[in-house]
Amino acid sequence: MLNPVRLIEAKRDGRTLEPSELRALFEGYLSGSVEEYQMAAFLMAVQFRGMTADELAEFVRLMLHSGAVLDLASVGAVRIDKHSTGGVGDKVSLPLAVLVAEAGVPVPMMSGRGLGHTGGTLDKLESIPGFRTDLSLDEFRAVLGRVGTAMIGQTEEIAPLDRRLYALRSVTGTVPSIPLIAASIMSKKLAEDLTGLVLDVKVGSGAFMEDEDRALELSRTMVRIGGDHGVPTVALLTAMDRTLGGSAGNALEVAEAIACLQGSGPTDLRDVVVALAGEMVVLGGVAADVEEGRRWAAETLASGSALERFRTLIEAQGGDPGVIDDPGRLPTAPVVEDVRALEGGTLRRIEPRRIGEVVVELGGGRFRLGAEIHPGVGVDRIAPPGQAIDTGDRIARVHARSHVEARTAVEAIRAAVEMETGEPVRPLLSHRVTEGGVQTLQR
Ligand code: URA
Repeated sequence: MLNPVRLIEAKRDGRTLEPSELRALFEGYLSGSVEEYQMAAFLMAVQFRGMTADELAEFVRLMLHSGAVLDLASVGAVRIDKHSTGGVGDKVSLPLAVLVAEAGVPVPMMSGRGLGHTGGTLDKLESIPGFRTDLSLDEFRAVLGRVGTAMIGQTEEIAPLDRRLYALRSVTGTVPSIPLIAASIMSKKLAEDLTGLVLDVKVGSGAFMEDEDRALELSRTMVRIGGDHGVPTVALLTAMDRTLGGSAGNALEVAEAIACLQGSGPTDLRDVVVALAGEMVVLGGVAADVEEGRRWAAETLASGSALERFRTLIEAQGGDPGVIDDPGRLPTAPVVEDVRALEGGTLRRIEPRRIGEVVVELGGGRFRLGAEIHPGVGVDRIAPPGQAIDTGDRIARVHARSHVEARTAVEAIRAAVEMETGEPVRPLLSHRVTEGGVQTLQR
């Protein structure tokens, strides 16, 4: 007879659990004999104690086989996806998926919702009026075959154990754990029947992995899991010690993604998209090496051709393609207020975690399971690191549902401003992790 309390205590006290014990615990959770509060306690114990390599391998296996594993062979011989560990202003998936599809590499993309202070691709996509992320697997296959990419949420069938744990972790402070993140991401990705995977591992105060060593450990862990399951996996460490691009908030980020696909938009967003796309087309077998892949990605992005594919994707998934030509059709918030600098000088950064929290507080994310999102709220025109500013200059802009909420957000952002201290922000792209090892990209 399963005694979940004993297993929680064992993990709390640092004992290694047997595969059969993990299986009993998680199967009990799925069947209802282990309560939410017991699983929350277990997750907190994992947060502090971690998992051994064997425990993690079994956990990934349980997550993956808790649901269906897709068969996408009909789509083509290669299927490449990318997944981010989560950050603030991370709208990369939107331009990236259609860009890589331009190379003839199918991108079956299964994304998540906002988690903690970070945003989620599904919430962003759903801010496009009518856009459906809940396609059935047959619809998913059909859109993927027709458009070259399809973007959905985890269906009921895919890794249901992860779906429940992900939601629970989001509201119990148990997100930033290497084994929990690694198993969550990799179980979903392995269920997609991929032939290659690129991971965008965010590092910095706006990410779940705040320091480089932990981000590298997470990268190595996920790359190894991919390899163990026969899916070549590459991870890039990208900076999340500032917001990516100039906006955070669902509809605001869609507008910025459209600008990126028009060949404009923030350069940091473009550079991350190009770097990830470069890796994906190599894994997809259409570029000989990463240099060639990046060159192709930069040229294609600048040409604006992937924008047309985004229009087709939106249409195929029930959304209003008119947002491409007129982002004014995206949801808006009734109150828009500037955040003005209290002092002049060179901006080091506006702390991204605080920006992410502000977006959640404005209603753009969730504090409770299943809470409704307000797609138009958020922060945009966020001044980038290194910008010279005078007292009174605008350093960001808040989109809120009320003047009171806007005022609170403005104050919070002002308090998150750091002026130049001599310590530089992180390089945008710092490391590349493969099964062969870790390569430093910039210093
Ligand atoms: N993304 C996921 O899919 N899972 C996590 O745990 C964190 C980020």
